[in-house]
Amino acid sequence: MANDKVSIHGAWASRWVFILAATGSAVGLGNIWKFPYMTGMYGGGAFVMMYLVCIFMVGLPIMLAETLIGRRGRQSPVNTLKALAIESGASPKWSWAALMGMIAALLILSFYSVVAGWSLDYILSMGSGQFAGVSAEGAGAAFGALTADPWRLTLWHTLFMLLTGFVIARGVVAGLERSLRIMMPLLFVLLLVLLGYSMTTGHFMQGFHFLFNFQPDRVLDGVLAAMGHAFFTLSVGVGAIMVYGSYMPKNASIGSTILTVGILDTLVALTAGMALFPIVFAGGLEPSAGPGLMFVTLPVAFGNIAFGQVMGTLFFVLVLIAAWTSSISMLEPAVAYLVERSKRSRVLVTSVLAFVCWVIGMGTVLSFNLGAEAKFFVFSDDGFHLFQWGAEGGRNFFDSIDYLTSRILLPLGGLSFAVFAGWVLKREAVREELAMKSPLLFNLVYWFIRVVAPIGVLIVFVAELSK
Ligand code: PHE
Repeated sequence: MANDKVSIHGAWASRWVFILAATGSAVGLGNIWKFPYMTGMYGGGAFVMMYLVCIFMVGLPIMLAETLIGRRGRQSPVNTLKALAIESGASPKWSWAALMGMIAALLILSFYSVVAGWSLDYILSMGSGQFAGVSAEGAGAAFGALTADPWRLTLWHTLFMLLTGFVIARGVVAGLERSLRIMMPLLFVLLLVLLGYSMTTGHFMQGFHFLFNFQPDRVLDGVLAAMGHAFFTLSVGVGAIMVYGSYMPKNASIGSTILTVGILDTLVALTAGMALFPIVFAGGLEPSAGPGLMFVTLPVAFGNIAFGQVMGTLFFVLVLIAAWTSSISMLEPAVAYLVERSKRSRVLVTSVLAFVCWVIGMGTVLSFNLGAEAKFFVFSDDGFHLFQWGAEGGRNFFDSIDYLTSRILLPLGGLSFAVFAGWVLKREAVREELAMKSPLLFNLVYWFIRVVAPIGVLIVFVAELSK
């Protein structure tokens, strides 16, 4: 057996802990916050359909690839790719793919922390009964007031970054398992409660229709965003799953594990969508409201049901936990790498990286108020501008980072990891890691990693460029 390596950073006690950790990473703001608002922006059913196709044809094979690469290498993604490439007689430059992923993860963390901070604020305002009996309009105004206030945003952003750094500095394996075991199921239960409420709004079917009604004319629009979001929601393309894979027990079956994670992640997103949209329609809100969608609809729901104050508070606590278990997985690849490279302590490395992300995150804080007019990537009549104040169109800082990561860096990273597992690693190595009983199933999965997933990403890329 070639693979008796162990990671210097630790190891999960069992396959279940890996499932918890990977699900913790996958289920986050992407499912509860981003998925519903993107569905709203891209018109509903067309987006959802494309999203599901991307998850199962592209996202899951790449997740599988990342996990098996991680477990085989047992180091941080950058060093894993370097070592495995050399072992397989390929160029050590493959590690650049992991380096790019690592940077993408830090960029995601920078804005993720700001949005997670919103839920911190909402825990407080929900808990103090501010939303009792609130109308859709009132909830919209409350959200507007929050995002207009850079100081309040900075406070919560800072706090969330500290929380993330704290867990990572202590080591993922020790601190996380117990809370995850309780919190993830509770999150599910509360989502179901919310779903129950949305059924009483009288607009459930309208919401359902919106989510699952297929509109052929919007498919192209949706597919580009859907591919990016499939990567985002599964946490693939950045090395987060790879680093978790490197702590996975040797004999755990990767295939069924990954399938479980993928299904859980999809279920949470769809449930969130089915819970939110009926409330959107009942309150006369716009489905295309954008990033504020969840923060406007949920207060309306919780402000108008029995025990809403308690349940709403609890719900935002859980959103926070979901975000937290995701954010640590964004930091871990870089921390593991720098610990290996610099031989400095985990605490020091974590502090430096969290600070860097915090600073970049300030750009997102300002995107919603003072810096809303600072536009990047502007295509206008007189050509392309990287930066222009007050330009029509273009993207503010938050939109730019989101676009750069989801639409470009994650798919590129995922593509590289799939090609690496499919074409650089020896077939025998992959077979050994996957350890599937049925040769037929192995061939099928291997073909998805080698051919289907890479072609899927490429098609979307070409479509994006020729838009
Ligand atoms: N999957 C997380 C979510 O849906 C986000 C994430 C992206 C986590 C990349 C880690 C790496 O919220």
